[in-house]
Parts: sequence; structure tokens; C-alpha cells
Amino acid sequence: MSPVVEANGAKIPQVGFGTWTLRGKDCARLVEQAIAVGYRHIDTAQMYENERDVGEGVRASGKRDQVFITTKVTPENLHAGDLERSAHKSVKTLGVSAVDLLLIHWPNARIPLAETIGALNKVKRDGLTKHIGVSNFNVALIEQATKLSEAPLVCDQVEYHPFLDQSKVIGSCKKHRMAVVAYSPIARGGTQQDNVIARIAQAHGKSPAQVSLRWLVQQGIIVIPRTSKAERLKENIALFDFELSATEMKEIAGLAHRHGRIVDWAYSPQWD
Ligand SMILES: NC(=O)c1ccc[n+]([C@@H]2O[C@H](COP(=O)([O-])OP(=O)(O)OC[C@H]3O[C@@H](n4cnc5c(N)ncnc54)[C@H](OP(=O)(O)O)[C@@H]3O)[C@@H](O)[C@H]2O)c1
Repeated sequence: MSPVVEANGAKIPQVGFGTWTLRGKDCARLVEQAIAVGYRHIDTAQMYENERDVGEGVRASGKRDQVFITTKVTPENLHAGDLERSAHKSVKTLGVSAVDLLLIHWPNARIPLAETIGALNKVKRDGLTKHIGVSNFNVALIEQATKLSEAPLVCDQVEYHPFLDQSKVIGSCKKHRMAVVAYSPIARGGTQQDNVIARIAQAHGKSPAQVSLRWLVQQGIIVIPRTSKAERLKENIALFDFELSATEMKEIAGLAHRHGRIVDWAYSPQWD
């Protein structure tokens, strides 16, 4: 099982299972298997249209009380009434009494942030979620959101892997005691092809995916790798029996480049 990262009162298991693209029975089965092999954190979203399947998998595991569930509100649902209605729907669809963490999936420049953050706080007060946070927020938006929020925001979930420099967002999260949750932590499989990562992986007797994930967790980052293959579930959580040297950490950080981002920022007109 993975260690826990503490952030503004939340205790978030450092390795979570990402579920984007997983649907139906396959999704439910993988979530159940992930929990069976030690995952205690599952990441879903309204946008993934799999909250029902994720809920089924968690129920089948019999371990709901031990599993940290995150879901996210789509950018179209960020007006106050829509956010509230959609949060009620997410909780019902997942079949839980409350989620552990509810995030704004992407900022939406057409909807005032104050209205969205106010509604996020209201659904927390109403008991639909234990904690609240954001995703895909840059430094300027983190500053605004933390000022607007009555309850502390516990994380920013952003794209982060060896090919992308996220030092500014990490600095801002540290300042506000927020965790950084890395999505696409193995660059959607892209880390498999890198020579530096392959060499370091070989030296440790680990896979390139494990080295990329270890590079993140060794920085105190939470990771949520996704796989559709049950046999990779164990591999992606076996990150705590080896350590990268300071030189290796630096070498991997050096792989970041200007075009390293994978995910399209079309949703986020405020992003610089
Ligand atoms: N907040 C946001 O806006 C946002 C955006 C994107 C993603 N996310 C979240 O972050 C999660 C992870 O990100 P992601 O799905 O974009 O990418 P990812 O986890 O970096 O990569 C997933 C890909 O890597 C492959 N893979 C997984 N484990 C592997 C291993 N051990 N060796 C080789 N290949 C491996 C998978 O293929 P197989 O299925 O064949 O194993 C899949 O194609 C998502 O599922 C979602 O929950 C959030």
C-alpha cells in the first residue's frame, strides 16, 4: 500500500488509480482489482462517464471505508446551481454518501470563479464531499481560488511527468499547503521510449513506468496512473522499494521541454 500525503487536513494515498477511458464492466473489475492489490485512491470525473462503474468496483471490493474517491465537476457545470445539482448526481451515481474529494476539473473563464468556489464550499458544507480542490489551475488561478475559498483547497491536479516542468505550480501549491496530484504521470506511455529513463530503469531493475512514477513520488507528488491491464496494476504501485539518486532525479528533471505537454488546454482560455 502507498504512503499518504497530508494537505490542509486531507490524507491522500500517494498512488491512486486513474480511470479515464475505462468504462462498464471492465472499469468496475479493474477498480475492484486495483483495490485488491493495494490501491486506496481512485480518480474519476463527471466527464469520464464512468462514475457508476467506479462505484460498482469500490462496492465489490468491500472496502469503501478505506478508499479515497476523487471526482471532478465538468467546466460546463460551474455555475452555482449546476455545480450543486451535478455534485448530488455524482454522489448518487457513485452510490456513496459522500466523495472524499471534489475538484473543479478545468477553470471556465465564462463563469465567475467566485461563484464556482462559493458553490464548491456549499456542497462541502452540505456533506457531499469531505474535501475540495482544483485541477488544471495555473499559479494566478490558484492565488485567486485560495483567496475566495472559505474551506482550504487541498490540491491542484495537473499534468506532470518527466517531460513537463511544473515547478511554478508546485511552488504555489507548497505556499498554500496544497498537494500536487500528477495526471498523465507516465506521459500516456511516452516514458517507455526515453533512453535516459530506460537506462535508469535498467540500473534499478525496474520498468520505465516505475522510474517515472518514482521520480514523482520522491518529490512528494501524488500520482494517478491509469492502465487497462490488470497485470500492470501491481507494477504501477510498486514504487517504494527503491530510491533514485540525486543525480538521477536531476537527469530526469532535465528531460522537460517546451512541447512536453500532452493534454489540450482548449478548455482553459485563462491559462498563460
Ligand atoms: N484532471 C484532468 O484534467 C486529467 C486529465 C487527464 C488525466 N487525468 C487523470 O489521470 C489519470 C492518468 O492519466 P492518463 O490516463 O492521461 O495517462 P497515464 O496514466 O500517464 O498513461 C496511461 C497509458 O499508459 C499505459 N500504461 C499504464 N501503465 C503502464 C506500464 N506500467 N507500462 C507501460 N505502459 C503503461 C496505459 O496503457 P494500458 O492501458 O495498455 O496499460 C495507457 O495507455 C487518468 O486516467 C485520469 O484519471 C486527469
